[in-house]
Amino acid sequence: MNIGQQYPVTSATFISASPGINHCPPPNIPEYAFIGRSNVGKSSLINMLLQRKNLARTSGTPGKTRLINHFLVNEKWYIADLPGYGYAKVSKKERAAWQNMIQKYLLERTNLLNTFILVDIRISPQTNDLEMLRWLGKAELPFAIAFTKTDKLKRQQLAKAIQNYASLLEQEWEELPLSFVTSSNTAAGRDEIFEFIEEQNRGFAS
Ligand code: GTP
Ligand code: MG
Repeated sequence: MNIGQQYPVTSATFISASPGINHCPPPNIPEYAFIGRSNVGKSSLINMLLQRKNLARTSGTPGKTRLINHFLVNEKWYIADLPGYGYAKVSKKERAAWQNMIQKYLLERTNLLNTFILVDIRISPQTNDLEMLRWLGKAELPFAIAFTKTDKLKRQQLAKAIQNYASLLEQEWEELPLSFVTSSNTAAGRDEIFEFIEEQNRGFAS
């Protein structure tokens, strides 16, 4: 099998963990953000893309990532691993603070070329994911959906789940958002995501 092996990552380094946009590294190179519910697999997907085992910290305990973590890839662009939302054990006040921090980052980060919003394909569509998608759309921010943990479903179940999600989105969106079918275990979606990123990077350069 030769799944998701096309794009070489010659270097991948952790740069910083920022409590907000003002602490992020200078916005002089392209950046891609990864957001989604707690435990959806953001850090795992980043490790899979970068072919590094535990560069982004993963955990079975939701709410692991609390800060905006920047990773420099091939000395040319950033990945930002954002804290997850929807974690039940967080107070209302904390949740509001998270939302403010993330929204400010998404709205004001000038080098942010795309936000990948991760959706666990095994569970029914979640209100907070749909709200986040709506918010991104309203703010006219470019985004793509990355379905995660797709290795956990059989091929037919997976096709059905993706179809369900698409039908739901069709009720709200004129055009279906770009989406990727990914798995951190099998590297599914890696080539497609890198192809997309490379194309965006070329746009940033010109
Ligand atoms: P927070 O930082 O807490 O918001 O979580 P996260 O979104 O970064 O999730 P993380 O990558 O830490 O993964 C959460 C759990 O899901 C871990 O136990 C992972 O091993 C598991 N997981 C993540 N991606 C996949 C996948 O593609 N397939 C399978 N089978 N498990 C996965
Ligand atoms: Mg994480």
